Amino acid sequence: MSQTALITGASSGIGLELAKLFAQDKYDLVLVARNEGKLNELAKDLESKYQIKTKVLSFDLTHDDSPQLIFAELQKENISIDVLVNNAGFGTYGDFKDNNLTTELEMIKLNISSLVEMTKLFLEPMLVRKSGKIMQVASTAAFQPGPHMAVYYATKSFVLNFSEAVAEEIKNTNVTITTLCPGPTTTNFQKISNIEFPESLKVMTASEVAKIGYNELNKNKSSVVITGLRNKLFAFSVRFLPRKLVTKIVASI
Ligand SMILES: NC(=O)c1ccc[n+]([C@@H]2O[C@H](COP(=O)([O-])OP(=O)(O)OC[C@H]3O[C@@H](n4cnc5c(N)ncnc54)[C@H](OP(=O)(O)O)[C@@H]3O)[C@@H](O)[C@H]2O)c1
Repeated sequence: MSQTALITGASSGIGLELAKLFAQDKYDLVLVARNEGKLNELAKDLESKYQIKTKVLSFDLTHDDSPQLIFAELQKENISIDVLVNNAGFGTYGDFKDNNLTTELEMIKLNISSLVEMTKLFLEPMLVRKSGKIMQVASTAAFQPGPHMAVYYATKSFVLNFSEAVAEEIKNTNVTITTLCPGPTTTNFQKISNIEFPESLKVMTASEVAKIGYNELNKNKSSVVITGLRNKLFAFSVRFLPRKLVTKIVASI
């Protein structure tokens, strides 16, 4: 029987590239994001290329009831989720004192609250079935404070710490949590967050990042994966440097 993967933020960037990889391996897909048109276009394309089934769920995950509505809709249709990918997220560039509070709170709702609720809802049936995989998309931002993107970096620290903790709690089950930590990646993220990556940073493509995450997920063990050697080295080195210095370095980048 075919397996089903649910991907949030499947309408662009890393989520869209992950959807392609799951489809190539014949997973049926539940595609979640706000842009219904883009999701329908992707669903049609993947269905015809790979003879899979797709379901488009257009939801704004900053709305409190979205995770419950998504879960209920899938239950009603007897669709069980074998792989959950919590990928939807956004950032904002600017000093905290100047940034719009509503936008910052929406970011917390999307990057943290909806991810926690989706994990809670879909983990339980996986534990009952004694099988399932979850991918949480964090960031290299998770490893240190991020001046000028203070709330975004803090949300990704939450995702990393939360995911590692739950992975440890469920280590003796057959359910795994893969935490993907991409560094700078070319997607719509830059435009939405109002940032430009400096040339000194090695920017990866969404397809490269998705492949790294997908391969790690298929190792069937919980893990944290940082994309690219430079990003790995930076995330590793911040452990040994004074936090004040690390914070200053990030501010200068
Ligand atoms: N790009 C980078 O440099 C980078 C680095 C590290 C980590 N990440 C993380 O990677 C993840 C994917 O981002 P990306 O780079 O692929 O950016 P992206 O191209 O902007 O994709 C973001 C996805 O999230 C969806 N989304 C945004 N707001 C939503 C909402 N309120 N409700 C439901 N879906 C929503 C978007 O779809 P709709 O607009 O259709 O809703 C889109 O599909 C994010 O968690 C991001 O923090 C990105």
